[in-house]
Amino acid sequence: MRTSILAGLAAVLPSTFAYRGFNYGATDLSGALKAQSAYETEFNAAKNLPGTNGEFTSARLYTSVQGTTGAPNEAFAAAINTKTSLLLGIWISGNPNIQTEINAITSAISAHGSAFTDLVAGISVGSEDAYRVTALGIASNAGPGVDPQGIANYISQVRSGLSGTALSSKPIGHVDTYNTYSNSSGWMAPVIEASDFIGMNAFPYFESTKPNSIQNGNSTFWADYDATVAQAGGKPVWITETGWPTVGPQSGEATPSVANAETYFSEVACSSFGRNINTWWYTLQDSTSDASVPSFGVAVADSSFAPKYDLSC
Ligand SMILES: *[C@@H]1O[C@H](CO)[C@@H](O)[C@H](O)[C@H]1NC(C)=O
Ligand SMILES: *[C@@H]1O[C@H](CO)[C@@H](O)[C@H](O)[C@H]1NC(C)=O
Repeated sequence: MRTSILAGLAAVLPSTFAYRGFNYGATDLSGALKAQSAYETEFNAAKNLPGTNGEFTSARLYTSVQGTTGAPNEAFAAAINTKTSLLLGIWISGNPNIQTEINAITSAISAHGSAFTDLVAGISVGSEDAYRVTALGIASNAGPGVDPQGIANYISQVRSGLSGTALSSKPIGHVDTYNTYSNSSGWMAPVIEASDFIGMNAFPYFESTKPNSIQNGNSTFWADYDATVAQAGGKPVWITETGWPTVGPQSGEATPSVANAETYFSEVACSSFGRNINTWWYTLQDSTSDASVPSFGVAVADSSFAPKYDLSC
């Protein structure tokens, strides 16, 4: 009894450090592949965002390969130059040979050593792959995805590929939407068992079958988080994507606006930071100029990187 009370307390006590940063895609507003210099500009801009005390020092990536070259993602070298920590990504959906991704990581280890590996917060094998599998019956999913057993197999391939390297001690896991994990059917059990951490994406803005106005944004987000934790078997749940758009289509009761995005940030981001949960916000800047896509960037999409709203907590 006493042990379980102490264990419960330990689980709620904040650790001394949590990663805080943004998600970074591979292409810029024009659709062009980003080079090292573009990542350096973004990583420096994130650190210098007014109101954030220089605390946005981490980057979540979706792939470890630079375009189709097979070479390491140039974001790695940019991270080394700017002391930006990395949640590495390995793209698995529709990817016939994820060994290319693993090889890019081991090349970067050879090239940079601990200057690279010390920055690695973890490695996510996949991104929203289960969400894209139609079997879950979730609306608006667009294949190709990977089913949970397939994701677990890729996680084990990555573990083998990185064994004996300086990254073998880093947490390896997966990123998917909260509703894949929270499904109590046990569908995601193979992924959860194979993972050291659970990366959760949750966007109340898109949850249009719920009363999802901004007034319910914070409570909806944390209900998603708690439902994921309930299925996570004690594995840490990291927040890998969330945000609220400043511009875009109405989604159920959710209205994009600068004021609503600010409310969402001040409630959800600030409560996550207060709880010392690793958090990669979506996102620093928009990565498309397509006006039909909701605008989740916290900073305007030009070289000023000016915040659209107050980012202080
Ligand atoms: C949970 O997953 C099962 C597949 O195992 C699916 O049939 C069901 O619709 C899912 N439930 C929800 C609420 O997504
Ligand atoms: C947001 O929800 C969290 C978790 O329930 C809570 O701790 C926090 O106080 C809420 N923030 C606001 C502003 O309501």
